Formats: sequence, structure tokens, C-alpha cells
Amino acid sequence: MFEERVVSGMRPTGRLHLGHWHGALKNWVRLQAERPCLFFVADWHALTTHYETPEVIEESVWDMVIDWLAAGIDPAQATIFIQSRVVEHAELHTLLSMITPLGWLERVPTYKEQQEKIADRDLATYGFLGYPLLQAADVLLYRGKYVPVGEDQVPHIELMREVARRFNHVYGREPGFEEKAKAAAKKMGARKAKLYAQLRTKYQEQGDAEALAAARSLIDEQANLALGDKERLFGYIEGGGRMILVEPEAMLTEASRLPGLDGQKMSKSYGNTIELREDPESVKKKIRTMQTDPARVKRSDPGDPEKCPVWDLHKIYSDEATRSWVNEGCRSAGIGCLECKQPLIERIVEEVSGMRRRAQEFEDNPELVRNIIGEGAEKAREAARETLDDVRRAMHLRPG
Ligand code: TRP
Ligand code: SF4
Repeated sequence: MFEERVVSGMRPTGRLHLGHWHGALKNWVRLQAERPCLFFVADWHALTTHYETPEVIEESVWDMVIDWLAAGIDPAQATIFIQSRVVEHAELHTLLSMITPLGWLERVPTYKEQQEKIADRDLATYGFLGYPLLQAADVLLYRGKYVPVGEDQVPHIELMREVARRFNHVYGREPGFEEKAKAAAKKMGARKAKLYAQLRTKYQEQGDAEALAAARSLIDEQANLALGDKERLFGYIEGGGRMILVEPEAMLTEASRLPGLDGQKMSKSYGNTIELREDPESVKKKIRTMQTDPARVKRSDPGDPEKCPVWDLHKIYSDEATRSWVNEGCRSAGIGCLECKQPLIERIVEEVSGMRRRAQEFEDNPELVRNIIGEGAEKAREAARETLDDVRRAMHLRPG
């Protein structure tokens, strides 16, 4: 149960591009082989801003799943699903809303920022204010430990932690907690119970993080302990009540930021993207017409790669030898810009062609995609139910 899960979501707002691939998806593909991962299409989050054009979201949801599969997200390794198909997210969101102070949501920096930025839509809605709380429910529902996200999402992860802490504080106290925790420790056997007590003291007296980690993994390894007992023991290390919800951490994606065709960040709103499934002819055309160092007006004018977005692409796609060929050739006007772009065109066409090939199988076979997300939702629900059972019980919402 306390395996360290990775949870992340993406809003479906159009086809994915190479910026998403280098900025997030590539990392997800790596993570799915290392830990249990849950990846979902956050369609409710998309509705908080695009509630007037839900048909666009519907199409994007489908495209997003296919893009993920094409990029190598493997349903045999990771659980992939659509947020709205697992209504448990909504239940936890509602329950968490009972204990979340309004001020916490109003203070999230993206709230005001986005409202100002997206001026053409009315975002003074209840749903939009609750965006980060819904996001908290997304992760807390699975007791997710790691949340791979970009820098901009860090305040949202902070909020998740605060909400989890508050929940545990308010609902984790049960009568006779300490006795129950001690009884649970005994069930591990005398030797391990003693070790647990020592680690706990070490953590409480010296704040020793290693002792905390050691105690947690000790509990983790106990196959014979019931979930409730494990939670008590987890909570007891830190002194408080039961740890019903887990505090997640942001897992920052190392920024291999891909520039767009104009050198700004690659983004659909700038119209400077190469899509994951872009047609190769179009890839060629886009790169051929891509901006270069403006100093290179004529072929004989030397340039500076540092002033050229093409160089940023080389940093991601080219090997050492190609990069020094570019560097020297550009500065000495030994090569022309089209020549310089050629190896990039080859690499990117190859990459995109692979994605297209894999996507084709799913495009031709919608039933297959439906099955994948159906099974994903089923698996997600199962994990969600375990948490929700505990949450409901803690909030005295037991069925009558
Ligand atoms: N807010 C995230 C974004 O815009 C998307 C998201 C929704 C998410 N729910 C999540 C990310 C849960 C991580 C975990 O990128
Ligand atoms: Fe950019 Fe290459 Fe042209 Fe230099 S030679 S300006 S790096 S495209």
C-alpha cells in the first residue's frame, strides 16, 4: 500500500507538441519503469477554464491519450485514465473542501495571475477557485508520493501538502490512539518493535530524517500488518494521529526546455510548435523556415549560435561532433543555415515518424484505446477506494 506512487495529470487543451515530449512525457516514460505510476487526462481541470467549449476538450482528451501511447506510455506499466471517469476524484474534492480555508485558495499565485492573463473568459467561478483543491484530490486520492510537474505547479503541490496535513490533524485523532499504535508495534515482533521505538525516539529528539525514513520502510515491509495499523505506526513516528493522507512532493522535471520555432518557449498559443504527430513534410518546412541569428543575412556573414534558436535544438538533438561542426561552421560562415538545419531535420523527422507510426495503430483501432482507458479507470478506482474508505470512516461517513 505504501509503495511510493507517482501521480500526474495533464489538461487536454489540444494536440501535444515536442515541448510536452521533452518537458514532461519523456520523464513519465522513464518513471513508469521505476515506480507505480498513475497518469490521467485532467478533463475537469480543462473545464474550469474552457467550460464554454466542452466539445474541444472532448476531442483533445482522445488525442491526448493517443499522443501518450505514441510517446511510449505503456498501459502494462503505468495506469492511464481519464479523470472524469473516476468520480472518486470528485468525492474527495468535496470532502476536502469542507476543511480548506478559502484564503488558502485565494492566495495560490496562479489564481490571480491566470484570471488576469485569461481576460477573455470569466474565471470568477467556484470551479476555477477550486482548481488547486481538485488537483490536491487527484493526488491525495492515490496517496501519491511524487508528482512530476513543472516549476509553475509548485504552489499547487504546497497546497496539497497543507491540505493533507490539516486532514490528518483534524481527522487522524482517534480515541486511544497511542495505545493502538503501541499494540500495532507489538504485532511486528519484539525485536522490530524495539527498533521502531528507537527510530521514533531518534526522529523525535534529533529530527533525524534518516531515522524517519528507516522507520517508514520498516513499517512498509511488514506484510502481516493491516492497513489501519500501518497508518497508525506511520503517524505515531511523527507524534500526531493516523496518517490517513500522504503528503506528496513535487518531482521537478529537469528543464530540457525546448525552444519554439521563433526562439520563445514552445507553446500552442505562440503558434511556434512542432506537433508530436506532425507530418514529416511539414516538419521539414517548419525547420527550414525557422528563425536563425539575424546577423546572418548573407551566406558569407558569420553568426553566433548563442543568438540562434536552431542551436538550442542542436543542444537537445545533436551529438558532440555535430555540435562542434555547427559551432565552428556558424562562426566562420563555413556552413549555411540550411546546411546547419539538415541534421536536425533528419533527427526530428525520425522522432516524429516513430510517434506517427505508433499512433497509427491506435488511430485505426479506437476499441483498443477504449479498452486501455477503461481498464486504467478500473485500476485507478480500486486504488482510490482504499483511500476513500479510510477518509469516509475518518469523517464518520460510514454507510448506515
Ligand atoms: N494543473 C496541472 C497543469 O496544469 C494539471 C494537473 C491536474 C495535475 N491535476 C494534476 C498535475 C495532478 C499533477 C497532479 O499542468
Ligand atoms: Fe543558427 Fe546554424 Fe545558422 Fe548558425 S548556422 S545562425 S546556428 S542556423
